[in-house]
Amino acid sequence: MIAIHSDHVVSPKDSGIGYDILSGYIVIEGENIKDVLPSLPDSFDGKVYDFGKSIIMPAIVEPHTHAIFGGDRASEFHMRMQGASYVEIAKAGGGILSTMSKTRQASDEELASLLKKRLDIFLKNGALTVEVKSGYDLTHEGEIRLLKIIRNTGAWHDVDVYATYLGAHAVPKDRDRNDYIEEIVGRTLPEIREKELADFVDVFCDETAYNVSEALKIFTRAKELGFAIKVHAEELKHTGISKEAAKLGALSADHLIKVEREDLTVMKEHGTIPTLLPPTVYLLKEDLTRTLRLLDEIGMPFAMATDFNPGSSPVISTWTMVDIAITRFGIPLERIIPAITIMAARALGLSDRGQVNAGKKAYLIALEVDNLEYLGYLFGVSPVKAVFKGEHIVYEHEDSNVWI
Ligand code: NIG
Ligand code: FE
Repeated sequence: MIAIHSDHVVSPKDSGIGYDILSGYIVIEGENIKDVLPSLPDSFDGKVYDFGKSIIMPAIVEPHTHAIFGGDRASEFHMRMQGASYVEIAKAGGGILSTMSKTRQASDEELASLLKKRLDIFLKNGALTVEVKSGYDLTHEGEIRLLKIIRNTGAWHDVDVYATYLGAHAVPKDRDRNDYIEEIVGRTLPEIREKELADFVDVFCDETAYNVSEALKIFTRAKELGFAIKVHAEELKHTGISKEAAKLGALSADHLIKVEREDLTVMKEHGTIPTLLPPTVYLLKEDLTRTLRLLDEIGMPFAMATDFNPGSSPVISTWTMVDIAITRFGIPLERIIPAITIMAARALGLSDRGQVNAGKKAYLIALEVDNLEYLGYLFGVSPVKAVFKGEHIVYEHEDSNVWI
């Protein structure tokens, strides 16, 4: 048993908006929080870590990443910065299809080693739960290969890894689109279910990808097989898939740049979590202000994620995402803190983490700072000084704070 003391223990509220700050001791037994107490009883004989005024908060949950891929798209990035659009590049054969070729060429060992390094970086930035999507092979065997690598790498890493099948990420050039969709529903989904290779099924429903009826066909089959569903929705154009997927019980609808009020109200009714991906919005030179206003008006809590991928978001640090969310889109801390913890966990169907309460997982991070107002202000610097997974410190670095 151990205890962690801080005068600034931050715990997101159940509502998913706002957080409480308290002073006290978090008592940890095994993987879980046993108690949160104002003081320790004399009988406590475990190790006590005293973080003084430094913030302790739940570890980050990353509910949307594409962290398994070969190659990079740095040249495409510069084309976009010089004015080319994501859709133009995709239509010219770049985009997801160019990463597909690089991923197909990479060996299992290369992909596993890249994924491991990326998970290490997520961990250093305070994430103990990361979702990883397949989607850069786009063949039956290849997508299964990616999911196996995600499962195998996740099995021994300190980060809890959740796997999502995103075979419908783009339409492979060498396939007839209807044949490919038939293969997904008739062969790939059942095999993934049988081998338990994925926790979720996702579809990119948008311009350059799949339309609403194709997405619903895949989701209906996924539901029949017992998968939870997530959707890339309303990113490049409005399709209405967020509303339709919500009616099918989707766990989350992600992106939502072009979402409309009615989509959000249907999502609210069905408990579908909106997940915003600020780095992608920023790097696609799009805006989130309208979406944020609608979410505020409807009073909906939301999750956030980096969307780490080689194309639209080469951002792997949650804190860079937070910097963008605060400085570019003006998202307040009351929204940010729950969005990267309790709401991000809910976007993965998890209610066992993301808050500092008795009974929750003791997945906690200590920050170098004593005030959440440093977030965004630190711009480009991770505030994480230690990561606790239960009774164990799984990452620690020397305090390098230049402010206090
Ligand atoms: O979430 N939108 C689809 N998938 C990614 C982009 C993937 C890529 O460009 O390689 C996204 O933005
Ligand atoms: Fe994505």
